[in-house]
Amino acid sequence: MAGPGRERWSSKSGFVLAAVGSAVGLGNMWRFSYLAAENGGAAFVILYVVLTLAVGLPVLLAEMAIGRGAQHAPVRALAHFGGDAWKPLGMIFVAAGFVILSYYGVIAGWTLRYAWIVLSNGFTTEIADRFGDISEGWDAFAFHVGFMVVTIIIVGHGVKAGIERASVLLMPLLFTIVVGLAIYAATLDGAGAGYDYYLSADFSKLWHPQVLQDAAGQAFFSLSLGMGAMLTYASYLDRDQNLPNESVVIAGADVGIAFVAGLVVFPLIFALGLSDKVSGSTVGALFITLPQAFAEMGGVGRVVGLLFFFALIVGALTSAMSLLEVVVSSAIDRFGWSRVQAAWLCGGAITVLGSFAAFDIRVLDVSDQFANNILLLGGGFALCLFVGWAMPDPESEVRAGAGNVPWLPVWRNLLRFVVPVFLGYVLVQAVPDTLIAIADLFSGS
Ligand code: PFF
Repeated sequence: MAGPGRERWSSKSGFVLAAVGSAVGLGNMWRFSYLAAENGGAAFVILYVVLTLAVGLPVLLAEMAIGRGAQHAPVRALAHFGGDAWKPLGMIFVAAGFVILSYYGVIAGWTLRYAWIVLSNGFTTEIADRFGDISEGWDAFAFHVGFMVVTIIIVGHGVKAGIERASVLLMPLLFTIVVGLAIYAATLDGAGAGYDYYLSADFSKLWHPQVLQDAAGQAFFSLSLGMGAMLTYASYLDRDQNLPNESVVIAGADVGIAFVAGLVVFPLIFALGLSDKVSGSTVGALFITLPQAFAEMGGVGRVVGLLFFFALIVGALTSAMSLLEVVVSSAIDRFGWSRVQAAWLCGGAITVLGSFAAFDIRVLDVSDQFANNILLLGGGFALCLFVGWAMPDPESEVRAGAGNVPWLPVWRNLLRFVVPVFLGYVLVQAVPDTLIAIADLFSGS
């Protein structure tokens, strides 16, 4: 069981806000709306919601049950229920935290840089030409370091005084800003064309394997699944917490914010007549086209731009905290380091690893593909096998604090049969593409 000194969330809402903070991040605003617009609009949104309910939610509840039951970080938690043979899976989770945070911190650094630009001079329409300088090189590295230092300091303060306090303060602010911006965007002339672009349904696009792969990868990334982040956060919970209810709230908030972010991004771009500039990359809409829209809006654009990039920074920060926490809590478990020591050593190593992505954007792209397509989906697949087949009586673990939930047998069977078959299918498609992308990177083509 837990050592007597194990940290605790101070309240139920503290845990939920921290978990929502982990889920809601750059993925929601940077990738979701763009994927939806490109892949069938409302049809993609429906597919995404179905995948979140049928695939994401069962794995989320699985991670929470393991973490709360074991009261340990991933490596020991898996060993607690499944024996030492499962330890390597926990180590892969820790490695995933390392890799994802190393490039996530670089993108977060760009958002810091953009907020800085709005504050100092405001955007100009040349921002598109400057993106190359901002996204790669020493500048990118410096802002990445700045972002990582803030993340390290918060995680170093601990679960309650650091992660929970920051989440309770920042998440309500993020919700208010994103909803406020969506309402503002709705008042603009031309917003309708933006909604059309984002949401007009095209069901024919859904049948491409690539779309299914994108939707599944995005669902896992967005809910922070497949690498033990939710497991680690749940390990600081008591057994009186209602895990099924909380998993539904977390998934609902995550999908909700992703959807509303699209209601901000596209009306703004279309109202300013920049629709032809929605470029062929997920990053393009957010870091090139949108700042151009802010530039064209003049003074209002500065306020709206600042609020938008502030919301992005908050999302990135609360997600980065959970990525670092997976690594830090595992180091504390394994080496007995103090929290502050673990935060600086692990965070420092991740910052250095991030220099590869900061100096070469292709590394960032390939790391993102590798993380999504292999680490998270593969991690989710392994978690299904663990809770479906290896963990003794996970239903009773979930029942603690929740009473008798009638659909628990359905949950276990989803984890045993349906979700692994689905993830296996997606992995078979995704792995070769990803390996080719990695090989291309190393061969320099
Ligand atoms: N969920 C975060 C986002 O959507 O930006 C990213 C993330 C955080 C992925 C934590 C994985 C994780 F463990």
